Amino acid sequence: MDKARGGFSSRIGFIMAAAGSAVGLGNIWGFPTQTASNGGAAFVLVYLILAFFLAYPAFMAELLIGRYGQANAVTSMQKMSRNTGQKRFAFIVGFGGIICAALILSFYGIIAGWMMSYALEPIARLVGLAQVADWLINQSLIRNLMFTILFMLLTITIIRRGVEQGIEKWSKRLMPMLIGLLILLIVYVFTLDGSKEGFVAYLNPDISRVLEPGLLISALGQAFFSLSLGTSVMVIYGSYIAKKENLVTLGAQVTLIDVSIAFLVGLLIIPAMYVAQAQGVPIFAEDGSLISGSNLVFTVLPSLFSGMGTVGLFVGFGFFVLMTIAALTSSISMLEGPVSFVVERHKIEREKATTFIGIGIFLLSVIIIVNISFMLDFVAILATQYGQPIIAMLCCVFVIGYGTEMKY
Ligand code: ALA
Repeated sequence: MDKARGGFSSRIGFIMAAAGSAVGLGNIWGFPTQTASNGGAAFVLVYLILAFFLAYPAFMAELLIGRYGQANAVTSMQKMSRNTGQKRFAFIVGFGGIICAALILSFYGIIAGWMMSYALEPIARLVGLAQVADWLINQSLIRNLMFTILFMLLTITIIRRGVEQGIEKWSKRLMPMLIGLLILLIVYVFTLDGSKEGFVAYLNPDISRVLEPGLLISALGQAFFSLSLGTSVMVIYGSYIAKKENLVTLGAQVTLIDVSIAFLVGLLIIPAMYVAQAQGVPIFAEDGSLISGSNLVFTVLPSLFSGMGTVGLFVGFGFFVLMTIAALTSSISMLEGPVSFVVERHKIEREKATTFIGIGIFLLSVIIIVNISFMLDFVAILATQYGQPIIAMLCCVFVIGYGTEMKY
């Protein structure tokens, strides 16, 4: 392995880092709500099929590009190109993925910041700081700026340390913590009244909905967003993994972990919503559909936790810490995309590049925060519903068109 570039020192390090990138706010924030509003288990079934038969091959294409090129997305794709036209196309696809990663991180940091402030709120309440607690869970410019800075600083600190000491070390610590906390919370929620109804809603499929176009599009989008495809991240992770490792197996393991965690999160959130309903919290919108993603996490669950009394403060703290951890293992991968490009193409020191790019992305976050009512959704939709699927598909075209004679 090229020591100057860095790389994963072990198979488990790669699996944890790639799964850490995949598992994030998309799984925890988006998946359960989409599941419930798209026919429960019918959505889960379609998601599983699309994740393994469409997203997994696209994931493999990105890993292969990285393994072949042993470099950032642009350089790797250009190494596969044979003439100037192909090199230009390679630049557009590779750089498009890098822009996509930066755009995702710019809104991701804001939402992850909310997760952090919601994690601190129960602590403030526990020590009797009611006013601070209220401030932490109410929208304000200052709060959004402060927590976005905090989250970006955490992300920058990990990435400045490189692949083995940064991404690998922290993913190996954070991912098992995430899974452990998740299982504890599921067990706890299952002991509460109302959870069985949620369990049935989550696992009892309505097969008649399986071919609904809306359901299919949501499941496809979720699968691509969840595996961090079209962001250059998996190209880079593919380049950091030792050549002796079997990519097909590793890719399948990461896909399995991503899908399993999404499934586990659904197993927590859907029953938790029905527990909230049993406690008198409305969980359905006027049209009968389940309330939307941001409401689900930031209104229904805190209500659920507060219904548990003092123990709810600890459960709430645990839940939002879990969300922050999930967001952090994804955000570090998103920052690695632009950083590895600048370090390798422009020979700038990793620490310097990380700081400058981190600040640049934070400034983008500030623009979004100041215009939050329309820019948050706009950037999120632009990056995840258009950017990611288009770039991921172009990566597949690249491997099929240019890579068939390559030796990976
Ligand atoms: N793949 C990451 C997520 O699901 C971005 O949140």
